[in-house]
Amino acid sequence: MGTHRPPRSRFRSLLAAAKCRTTLVVVLTVLVVGGLHSPQDVRLVHSGSDHELDQEPRATISIDGVDYPNPLQAGNGKSVDNATTWENSRRPELLEAFRRHVYGESLPLPVEQRFDVTADESSGVTRKTVTIGITGPHGTGSFDLKLFVPNSGAPPRGTFLMIDHRGSVGEDPQQSSDYAPVSTITDAGYAFAAIDAEDIAPDDSGTYRSKMINLFHDPGAELPEDAGRTISAWAWGASRAMDYLETDPDIDPSRVAVIGHSRSGKASLWAGAQDTRFAAAVSNNSGSTGAKLARRGDGGVGAETVADINSSFPHWFPPTYKEYDNREEALPVDQHELLALMAPRRVVVGSAANDTNADPEGEFLSYVAAARVYELYGLGDTGLPSPNWKPPTDTDFRGPAMSYHLLSGGHGLSAQGWDLYLNGDLFAR
Ligand code: GCU
Repeated sequence: MGTHRPPRSRFRSLLAAAKCRTTLVVVLTVLVVGGLHSPQDVRLVHSGSDHELDQEPRATISIDGVDYPNPLQAGNGKSVDNATTWENSRRPELLEAFRRHVYGESLPLPVEQRFDVTADESSGVTRKTVTIGITGPHGTGSFDLKLFVPNSGAPPRGTFLMIDHRGSVGEDPQQSSDYAPVSTITDAGYAFAAIDAEDIAPDDSGTYRSKMINLFHDPGAELPEDAGRTISAWAWGASRAMDYLETDPDIDPSRVAVIGHSRSGKASLWAGAQDTRFAAAVSNNSGSTGAKLARRGDGGVGAETVADINSSFPHWFPPTYKEYDNREEALPVDQHELLALMAPRRVVVGSAANDTNADPEGEFLSYVAAARVYELYGLGDTGLPSPNWKPPTDTDFRGPAMSYHLLSGGHGLSAQGWDLYLNGDLFAR
């Protein structure tokens, strides 16, 4: 079953017409799919060459002397030694395990989705606000996508789609902050898009259901134990934004990176894992239930554990994840397998040496461990000088499909971090 949309050429001409006017509204409607529980088709973007790995079937791998689940051993005990088996059976199995044990079930595809677009030109940038209208079985709502496309004449080098939990992206293309430096990004030749997480699922344990989640779940009934909460809803929202980006004539949908910082970095990884339309997932300081290995606990540095995150942010993950409070070793998955779900697309881990709550060493070890899945495609080069902690700080390490850096400072998405992302050639091998 797939989504049904009017032919793209029609969208493109509508949008091209739209661009000539200063303001306008479009239009696009879509689609209807009943009963689908995955947020989008999982289409594989690149099978690469099918490298056979010489793998002993082993349920665990050792990371820093501790046993972790082996991403390359399937539930049936067989070892996964080629990309085809990975894509056809192990990858879906791992996604299902992350849904069941960590992030919860995703919201389904909307019953109907429409895009109302307002566009104008400002400061050498085409600026669009796209209201994404969503209809689910329990009602209709919307959230906005802000889009800034440089007007240099050349197509954008790629698009960064930010999941923004700080509400920090306004209308002004000249706005700039370390966290969301819109004009720096467009000046570098990239398009920048942002969705406000609060409009999808408010970051509040009392009201998080009120926007998108209740369109799909009976507002008068308890949310099912296994239903995703905010992190899952934000990831779903990124996929709905991608639905729009696929229709926009200014955007090359094969060059879209989903990016998020911290809590949104967790969501960007989960979005990228599920939705193979994203060419890259960028996680900045994503920490616990992001890039960081759960089994490291507090990492010896007081980092945030599964129990900590579930108690401080009870609305981020479903109750099913809380079953692993203080028993991470019982989790059937660990976070290196989340990073591996990006393969063969680019995974980007941005860490900071003093971000102890996120356990930067745990993020690093997870990144290194994910490489064994990229190796199925011959893309296992992490770009690092050594698989051992601690790498040099303030340096970009880039392999053909994996990127990593460790900034010397603390928690934050900074100008320095953006500089590495913008110069990191994230859309090339
Ligand atoms: C808290 C939380 C982290 C999260 C961070 C953020 O510090 O413990 O898990 O990443 O907030 O989103 O800034």
